[in-house]
Amino acid sequence: MKLADNKATLSFSNGSPSIEMPVYSGSIGPDVIDIRKLYGQTGMFTYDPGFLSTASCQSAITFIDGDKGELLYRGYPIEQLANHGDYLDTCYLLLKGELPDAKQSTDFHKLVNNHTMVNEQMQFFLRCFRRDAHPMAVMTGLVGALSAFYHDSTDINNPEHREISAIRLIAKLPTLVAMSYKYGVGQPFMYPQNSLSYSGNFLRMMFGVPCEDYVVNPVLERALDRIFILHADHEQNASTSTVRLCGSSGTNPFAAVAAGVACLWGPAHGGANEACLKMLDDIQKMGGISKVGEFMEQVKDKNSGVKLMGFGHRVYKNYDPRAKLMQETCNEVLAELGLENDPLFKLAKQVEKIALEDDYFVSRKLYPNVDFYSGIVQRAIGIPVNLFTGVFALARTVGWIAQLNEMIGDPEYKIGRPRQLFTGSPRLNVPGAK
Ligand code: CMC
Repeated sequence: MKLADNKATLSFSNGSPSIEMPVYSGSIGPDVIDIRKLYGQTGMFTYDPGFLSTASCQSAITFIDGDKGELLYRGYPIEQLANHGDYLDTCYLLLKGELPDAKQSTDFHKLVNNHTMVNEQMQFFLRCFRRDAHPMAVMTGLVGALSAFYHDSTDINNPEHREISAIRLIAKLPTLVAMSYKYGVGQPFMYPQNSLSYSGNFLRMMFGVPCEDYVVNPVLERALDRIFILHADHEQNASTSTVRLCGSSGTNPFAAVAAGVACLWGPAHGGANEACLKMLDDIQKMGGISKVGEFMEQVKDKNSGVKLMGFGHRVYKNYDPRAKLMQETCNEVLAELGLENDPLFKLAKQVEKIALEDDYFVSRKLYPNVDFYSGIVQRAIGIPVNLFTGVFALARTVGWIAQLNEMIGDPEYKIGRPRQLFTGSPRLNVPGAK
């Protein structure tokens, strides 16, 4: 970051002296006012619940222009990566800052493939969960438990440990997600098959059985790879900020990523794809397309507590570029599987059409986000609804690690410690005490 030409001046109506604060510019995007000395100079904090106007760090990984609807990973537009890239090359890009050349790409694919198995003991740990546990509950436990199984790579201040834990997390997440699925449906775990692609291997671990050969469908393989690319990183969202804050205490990368998994689970974040599909199912049960208008009235009624899931975003005030790509993928997958007339897809399109024309949504700049169509694609592939967020977590793991490693390497990094505006009782005395 570099100092901007101008400075910010903060003045007070009570006659306290005004103070000047430096302004910094990034490469693109809004400038920031540096308030680090504000408390020292004025004895006051800033107040910004939900971080509506606060940049919590500097980062060179992902850039979003919410007004334009643009998403760049290390400068590359998401559309180009989704149409011409591959997920593991995208992981390399996010982690290392540049796209790999042919040799680097081959070596990286090989390296990740060499780490796809998990310690055999992990299945016994997994077997302690109830079979009907939500996969995200299981995933939070399993990812946290990786630090117990791989304690030779838990020193966050050691670059080699960070490197190997990054590869382990990227390589093992598909295995763990598939294991939590197989456990829930009572089928044998499928060991990874390293000759397959990252997404092909995941499909086989999910849907293969040991008594039959599994042939990977290339359209579904490509669709899944694209889903992974679209979810790989999204700058300082709730789960990524959670991973950074958790990691800022110096805890190990597996523990920090487990915190990210827990945060992602919520319906306002990664859980929205599951919530969106449930919402479409509910509208379908109400009577389908003919009931969309009625449902929209509920959404617009602030007292109903009903939200249009898969719509709206803190940063995008335009169409989420990932939603466009996801809609394309949805078309491809449904055509491949002969599900062009999928009623939920038709319903989703109708909901989108009505919302995009309705003043409530237009005036608030509410557009479909990535989760609006991703549930329909995943469901068509055969992924159960309660595993959608697990798939999101698998794909986002690389973003979490890239951001965590960037933070550790930042000379300005400090343990995260927000302050508060205290509104509770001032000092009281317990009866009998002074
Ligand atoms: N349905 C109906 N109204 C909405 C919606 C929605 N999905 N989203 C926002 N609004 C309204 C909100 O009620 C508010 O109205 P008003 O100004 O009258 O009070 C206005 O739009 C601004 O919304 P906000 O709640 O201040 O916006 P936010 O930035 O705090 O919330 C959000 C962003 C994503 C949490 C929210 O849009 C939402 O809950 N969407 C549904 C859940 C969802 O799809 N989440 C996935 C996000 S993308 C993937 C990811 O990052 O995980």
